[in-house]
Amino acid sequence: MGQVIAIVSGKGGTGKTSFTALTGSALSQLGHRTLVLDCDVGLRDLDLALGMTDRALMDFSDVVAGRATLEEAAVQHHRLPNLYLLTAPLTTEAALSMDAMHALLEQVREQFDYCLLDAGAGLGESFRLATANADRIIVVSTTEPSCLRDAQRTVMELHDFPAGRLHLVVNRLRRKLLKSLRANIDDAMDAAGLPLMGVIPEDEDVPSLLGRGMVDGFGYYSLAKRATKNIARRICGEKVPLMKI
Ligand SMILES: Nc1ncnc2c1ncn2[C@@H]1O[C@H](COP(=O)(O)OP(=O)(O)OP(=O)(O)O)[C@@H](O)[C@H]1O
Ligand SMILES: [Mg+2]
Repeated sequence: MGQVIAIVSGKGGTGKTSFTALTGSALSQLGHRTLVLDCDVGLRDLDLALGMTDRALMDFSDVVAGRATLEEAAVQHHRLPNLYLLTAPLTTEAALSMDAMHALLEQVREQFDYCLLDAGAGLGESFRLATANADRIIVVSTTEPSCLRDAQRTVMELHDFPAGRLHLVVNRLRRKLLKSLRANIDDAMDAAGLPLMGVIPEDEDVPSLLGRGMVDGFGYYSLAKRATKNIARRICGEKVPLMKI
């Protein structure tokens, strides 16, 4: 049975979509059949980060309504054969119910090893859709105080979720803050009240490559690529030390 992981944040723009694209591609490159599912109904952009806009013609509402099968609607990445995208509907009218999402994810678990659900910002419908049927949840935050406060608020919202299956990823750590890095991470963990799944440095390749849909264009030395590969290995149960930045 595959594992479904929701990627959420309180504040918008913390890097959920970038994280989903990079970690999804890392999981696929580790040999796992991986689906990235855009839950940001009306504001989808995971297809852009993956360079798959022209190819993702059907969305998850088509599968739920029976207009397409999961095999037909989930599009294989052109250069990463283990990576598939199922995009979100463009209009909110097509949004689906919790029961429909539950049924869809049951199928996904049968067909994929891992599924990452890219939620929209905030604690609204997209957040509920992504978290209601997830096996694990990753909260993505930067170290900004307002972002950490929103992460904490998000964790409070998830009080019914098993604590051991909730994780924090701190994104956009800056090298300039190196001296206070440990304190930064500790503060982030304390503020969010979550165990750390990984840290991702600020990396200018993220906007420049994902902005052009080149998720597979990151070089070996890219910090974000290395960090998300480590996180992918931790998701698979490996013990990987935090990378030195
Ligand atoms: N590690 C990083 N280094 C540099 N820039 C980053 C990093 N992670 C994300 N970004 C940039 O931050 C911006 C927001 O990222 P992204 O769209 O992934 O956030 P999001 O949480 O999905 O936003 P939303 O809440 O609107 O869905 C983008 O311009 C992206 O390129
Ligand atoms: Mg996003």
